[in-house]
Amino acid sequence: MPKIWYRSRKYQVIIIALIIFCIFYYTSLGDNLYREPNLDLTRRWPKLRARTHWLARPKSTLSRLASLESLPVSSVAQADARHAPRAVKDLNVDSIDLGLTNTNNRYIEKRLEEALKEDKGTGCEIPKLDPFAKEVTQFDKELPKIVCQGQDWVKCYHAECKVVQKILDTTTNIKCTYNDIIYKSDSEYKIGPDTVVAGKDAYTLTASDHVKVKCTGNHVNSILPSKWTGHSLGFRSTVHPKKPPPRRENTINVLILGFDSTSHNGFIRRMPKSYRVLLDELRATVLSGYNIVGDGTPAALFPILTGKTELELPDVRKKMKNNGTLDSMPFIFYKLKEDGYRTAYFEDMPWIGTFQYRFNGFRHQPADHYLRSFYLEESSRGKKWFNVGSNNKYCVGDTPQYKLMLNITDQFLKLDGKRFCFTFIADITHDDFNMISTADDDLVHFLRSFQRSGNVEDTLLMVMGDHGPRYAKVRDTLQGKLEERLPLMAIVLPESLKRERPNIQEILLSNADSLTTPHDIYATVLDALDLRQHWNPYKVTGADFTRGLTLLEPIPKNRSCSEAGIEPHWCACLAWRDVSQDDELYQKTANALVNYINSLTESMRHKCAIRKLSGVEWVMRQRANSRMLSFVAAKDADGYVGQFGARVTPNTENYQAKIIVAPGRGVYEASMVYIVKEDRFEINSRDISRTNAYNNEPSCISDTHPHLNMYCYCND
Ligand SMILES: *[C@@H]1O[C@H](CO)[C@@H](O)[C@H](O)[C@H]1NC(C)=O
Ligand SMILES: *[C@@H]1O[C@H](CO)[C@@H](O)[C@H](O)[C@H]1NC(C)=O
Ligand SMILES: *[C@@H]1O[C@H](CO)[C@@H](O)[C@H](O)[C@H]1NC(C)=O
Repeated sequence: MPKIWYRSRKYQVIIIALIIFCIFYYTSLGDNLYREPNLDLTRRWPKLRARTHWLARPKSTLSRLASLESLPVSSVAQADARHAPRAVKDLNVDSIDLGLTNTNNRYIEKRLEEALKEDKGTGCEIPKLDPFAKEVTQFDKELPKIVCQGQDWVKCYHAECKVVQKILDTTTNIKCTYNDIIYKSDSEYKIGPDTVVAGKDAYTLTASDHVKVKCTGNHVNSILPSKWTGHSLGFRSTVHPKKPPPRRENTINVLILGFDSTSHNGFIRRMPKSYRVLLDELRATVLSGYNIVGDGTPAALFPILTGKTELELPDVRKKMKNNGTLDSMPFIFYKLKEDGYRTAYFEDMPWIGTFQYRFNGFRHQPADHYLRSFYLEESSRGKKWFNVGSNNKYCVGDTPQYKLMLNITDQFLKLDGKRFCFTFIADITHDDFNMISTADDDLVHFLRSFQRSGNVEDTLLMVMGDHGPRYAKVRDTLQGKLEERLPLMAIVLPESLKRERPNIQEILLSNADSLTTPHDIYATVLDALDLRQHWNPYKVTGADFTRGLTLLEPIPKNRSCSEAGIEPHWCACLAWRDVSQDDELYQKTANALVNYINSLTESMRHKCAIRKLSGVEWVMRQRANSRMLSFVAAKDADGYVGQFGARVTPNTENYQAKIIVAPGRGVYEASMVYIVKEDRFEINSRDISRTNAYNNEPSCISDTHPHLNMYCYCND
């Protein structure tokens, strides 16, 4: 008698192995999804303080904190103000007194204050990064363009939805059933009643911007009935913005177009056509010192849209299990609504929504036009899971989703009245940044149409990224780390504003190389709208300037990361620091410089003496700060507590040295580049200066080889 298959030992072993594999797989998955062993320090602080006397703080908290912060921070020789006006000591964040007495300071504020003591007034040297350096281009790859299948039957433009001509031409007896997709809250929507529309008649959007549509008809070439089901979106006719206050009828419009995970350099590499159009045709100012202020998308969007950080706003995280929502937060949408603006907030990928993934979301839609319920319904049939790997997850019906976002943004700009729009596109960059290239031509088209239809006259345009790519592999390279911290921010000022305030274009341009942040974007938008009364006057304790500064006024060149609200491990600025005499590179740098000087006089060796090192005044190295170099990832799900590891090794390092040589007394200062892997220096004679007079040292060659005057000491 044949055995039933599951009785066979072989199959039993296979099944057990499969089960074990699944268990392991899910546990490993669990590690990725839940990487937060209750490390909720940043928010727990004030509460702990309320309950516990500081001096009697429980030991476990203390030691946990200590372990979080016990990181290698190099000790650095005394900075010498004479030769190193910009030298900063490595920020010694470890030794921060976490506020045993000061009960008003929270964790991060305290860290910023401490850091400010070290870096105040030092300014910021923005690293000059080659967008095409091998270190980062190794992650580039060409991906196929997004192609969507099929043909939508119904499209909407503004409030009117109707069957497209192509379908009318081939199909008879068309009947479409429309159902409004009605927003109830960020987590709930309802489907409205059926409305049946026949033939080419239009359906007008009134209850919602979004509809679900089912159509049937007979194709002319087929005896079988054909049908179509899909979603469409436009703008309902029933939104009537408030009347603007007197003399504020004609303030400018704003469009902020954001792409997830898009660094300044990444945009240059992967969106070359759009970048050229921004620069050459729209004359955009691209900020090269635009630095993130925290981890992830909310850390960029809260400051831009509220002028505050997450920690300064009510705690409405899901895990707090309170019923608070983001409605109580001071979003710019609310202020502008009062000012007579029509507002829009467009974001895709609802399952990882910026304000819904970790937070309770909104109870009422924050802007007049808001895509959340549309995307919830549209993706409800498993778009997120089932189409992984196929292009369908990037499509809404027959249209690539990013294109739909651009289209709806374009439609919004054509509505009447004052307009404020924030569009954030994530699907083509979130999983693999390389995918963004698929949108290059369409963004060019969008930007040119923006210009052609006259929006440059009265609309402030910002094209931005929230942060650069954050994958572990990228973070393993120095340039990848820096690019993560330097997202795209391109600004086009409207012509009307430039006429009103003639010097702002020049000022904005002069700020392009200064250290700037998302807090500045909030201040800038309000400045451009003449709503400065809503500025956030917050200053980091001890700072001279407010944390957010408008880009339409000169940003002080001595502004430092801490002053701008950037913690050391997010700070991309480079700083010069002394190299201690124990450091191997101290002697190496000095020797390399003498050797180079000798090599210059080599051809005249019969006349010029070989010079020997008789003293080293100082050696300095330019580096990103050590917290930045050793930052690995956030330790908590909210992204406020850093996990630090081995520092990444840069490919090159810049050094400066001042040395004295004999015979005679030659004093030289030089800038040199150290090639780390090859352990050698690159020196250019243009970067060497002789700082004492050479008098008649080179008299034997000065007639014939005057270019060696600085280096030659005559033998005779
Ligand atoms: C920074 O520069 C401003 C002028 O732009 C000056 O008033 C301020 O004192 C400087 N701050 C420091 C700390 O040097
Ligand atoms: C939120 O919770 C508080 C107390 O837990 C309750 O008084 C309040 O009505 C709740 N609000 C809503 C909108 O559910
Ligand atoms: C946006 O989509 C609508 C409906 O398909 C279409 O009529 C319109 O031309 C599109 N706009 C742009 C700028 O592509």
